[in-house]
Amino acid sequence: MKVLGIETSCDETGIAIYDSENGLLAHELYSQVKLHADYGGVVPELASRDHVRKIIPLIQRTLDSANLTSSDIDGLAFTRGPGLVGALLVGASVGRSIAYAWDVPAVGVHHMEGHLLAPMLDDNAPEFPFVALLVSGGHSMIVDVKGIGQYEVLGESLDDAAGEAFDKTAKLLGLDYPGGPLLAKLAEKGEAGHYKFPRPMTDRPGLDMSFSGLKTFAANTIRAAADDPQVKANIAYAFQEAIVDTLFIKSMRALKQTGRKRIVMAGGVSANRYLRDKFAEESRRKSFEVYYPAFEYCTDNGAMIAYAGCQRLLKGERVSLDMQAKPRWPLDSLA
Ligand code: KG4
Ligand code: ZN
Repeated sequence: MKVLGIETSCDETGIAIYDSENGLLAHELYSQVKLHADYGGVVPELASRDHVRKIIPLIQRTLDSANLTSSDIDGLAFTRGPGLVGALLVGASVGRSIAYAWDVPAVGVHHMEGHLLAPMLDDNAPEFPFVALLVSGGHSMIVDVKGIGQYEVLGESLDDAAGEAFDKTAKLLGLDYPGGPLLAKLAEKGEAGHYKFPRPMTDRPGLDMSFSGLKTFAANTIRAAADDPQVKANIAYAFQEAIVDTLFIKSMRALKQTGRKRIVMAGGVSANRYLRDKFAEESRRKSFEVYYPAFEYCTDNGAMIAYAGCQRLLKGERVSLDMQAKPRWPLDSLA
């Protein structure tokens, strides 16, 4: 089954074609980063309008690069939520309409399920069950995954998501939007041991997370520090170390609680080198396996939606013509 996937939940237009027999056939991404950079964050109305402009040409380009035409496509998958409602509506209405025109079934995919299943696109895909550490700009969660659609959210961020904390702290350090990857780059020049950030909510039981305090701690640290590039790099290092340590502590706790031996990380922050290296290193010391998506499938993309949608279409799931986008949509309501 060949499935065309559409992702438009935020500021990337992502289109891909996934084939249940031959894997990923093509994927294209248009990032709106430049459009929003002047505003220091995503402007929802601009995002929606840009998706409208880009989506059809990008679908055509994806078909072309796979050497396929519309008649080769057996199903349509689009991100139905969570995300910015205007942005979601573009992908959902285009996806649902195209499916109707091409006379193929359609399915609405949960954006975080897309992230969660992105490591499945890899040759070395994890087997179920596993614990998923989902760390993106909008959400951070720890999920017990028994199979496709069988998700139990064990913990989540009570305030800022991990990516959001990266972005906000990056802004405080004078970096551009989106700051996560830029902060990570700055941290590479930083030295350990100069600053000690807290590891929020690790001193009490449970798997919920809270990162907004780290941003406040960063703000106070930056205010008290000298305006010097090396000092800023040291602060970036300490901040990144604290977030990664916290995610690590919570993930180990989740493995212990569930008895799982596999941890799968996904979402934009899983592109973070320091995070990947820390988990890889520890997995060799302790007895667990760690999986992460290829870099290009960590942040938002169409491939993860095409993959997740294909699995759901194969199970017979369909979305009706009168469906609505779901800007809020709990992950554990999917079964
Ligand atoms: O999953 P994603 O593309 O979008 C959402 O679903 O939210 O995640 C984007 C987030 C942003 O906050 C971005 O700063 C962060 O992922 N991010 C990173 C890195 N690359 C992307 N954060 C830290 N280090 C990185 N290398
Ligand atoms: Zn995302």
